[in-house]
Amino acid sequence: MNKDVNKVLVLDFGSQYNQLIVRRIREKGIYSLLVDHNIDIETIKNDKSVKAIVFSGGPDSCLDPNFFDVDERIYDLGLPILGICYGMQLTTKKLGGTVTKDELKEYGETIIKIEEESLLYDSLPKEMIVWMSHGDRVIKAPESFIVTSKSENGVISSLENKEKNIYLIQYHLEVRNTKFGYEILDNFLFKIAKIVPNYSMNTFIEGKVKEIKEEVKDQKVLLGISGGVDSSVVAALIKKAIGNNLTCMFINHGLLRKNEVELVQKSLKAFDINLVTIDASEKFLKALKDVEEPEEKRKIIGKLFVDTFKEESKKLDKFDYLAQGTLYTDVIESGTKTAKTIKSHHNVGGLPKELGFKLIEPLRTLFKDEVRDLGLKLGLPCSLIHRQPFPGPGLAIRIIGNVTKEKIKIVQDSDAILQEEIKNANLDKEIWQYFTVLSNVKSVGVKGDERSYEYMLGIRAVTSIDGMTANFAHIPYDVLTKISSRIVNEVKGVNRVTYDITQKPPSTIEWE
Ligand code: XMP
Repeated sequence: MNKDVNKVLVLDFGSQYNQLIVRRIREKGIYSLLVDHNIDIETIKNDKSVKAIVFSGGPDSCLDPNFFDVDERIYDLGLPILGICYGMQLTTKKLGGTVTKDELKEYGETIIKIEEESLLYDSLPKEMIVWMSHGDRVIKAPESFIVTSKSENGVISSLENKEKNIYLIQYHLEVRNTKFGYEILDNFLFKIAKIVPNYSMNTFIEGKVKEIKEEVKDQKVLLGISGGVDSSVVAALIKKAIGNNLTCMFINHGLLRKNEVELVQKSLKAFDINLVTIDASEKFLKALKDVEEPEEKRKIIGKLFVDTFKEESKKLDKFDYLAQGTLYTDVIESGTKTAKTIKSHHNVGGLPKELGFKLIEPLRTLFKDEVRDLGLKLGLPCSLIHRQPFPGPGLAIRIIGNVTKEKIKIVQDSDAILQEEIKNANLDKEIWQYFTVLSNVKSVGVKGDERSYEYMLGIRAVTSIDGMTANFAHIPYDVLTKISSRIVNEVKGVNRVTYDITQKPPSTIEWE
């Protein structure tokens, strides 16, 4: 990031809301990064762009023997500090106050009462609802700190040392349930830390283009295009920096949606991007022949994709760099993921390290919504930027059982009808993801005067925020009626349409 862009560091103590704090700060036009709580003090000292520090919450207790600690010289840097939940308890303990673990835990919405004037609560009501989630609590403030608010249960909910610029809060201002959370954050950033907001997508583009130019010079970069938002944005950004030294390779595995190849080609050609499309559809179809097991399909596609990428890139040129659309959430989440594998996800962005290229990942510090914003600023079309998520293994996991050319066509055609009707009904903004799935079940029906024995097709449409949980979308019956009658009339091989009304969990969004 550009050295002149003011920055707030968020020290990571493991809170589930960490990313939210970073996002809220960025939304205010101030650059923010999540960093290890053990960050070297010299690194902070040497970075003049750091204007404040936030200590996040965390699930640990600072009373436990192996608590997450911080170098106490951090309190003497002269930088404004905001400690949230664990951050408050830790700071209280380090600076000589008392924290206790007792029966008085608070969880959920709680009312706090402001007892002392504080810049943190400037222009805000004297009573407000906040979100609490703590087991430990502060019972004695460190010397020269004043208690500025208490909860209705008598728990100290904020304290501060104005001279040292240290502000501590027990509640989570970053979650929406804290009614004036944004305003409290504003007060910290603008009235206490007095930070001038100068982070925007334009400054990001400027800084990144310069950085890529300086790093890559006249070397060659290869980028795998998936048709999704991230790789397209990376393409547009790198093209801006190094022009024709960027080559994009789009492997068509034959499992894409109807007209997808053309749409991607058209959008990128508008940028005059050097795009090579490899039609590998026959190869993938052959490798998937008679394979029915979902995990096996995913693994075959993942491996063949990498092999094809390797093979085809060698034919194109000798590249120095491989560009990838890694996002900030991937960076934050990798390493902390302990969840069991439910499905082995495969992404075009996720090529293995052994490919032997140097990596360039210009979106590493951005959240998905920032990537969309960046794409629009770079001039990519709205239709590409606001696309639904699409799985790497493509339509293969939307065909239950073995994959054939005929089945791919059924899914492509029915999906195109669904896309069209959802848009016509103006539901495309509120439904997060919608697609059709071909079951492996045939049933009897009657078409014209004839008996038919054809496939049953499922419609999956969900509302969600991040795909981790989902509800089925409440599509009006008349829209569903139109979709189903168009599908059975226009798509050969289908005589029955069902609507999936399960939530995630226990279902997943995709059927395989
Ligand atoms: P599930 O089916 O796990 O899907 O509830 C959650 C979200 O992830 C997408 N998905 C994938 N994305 N590679 C991807 O890039 C994959 O292998 C993959 N599998 C599922 C799915 O479309 C949904 O948005």
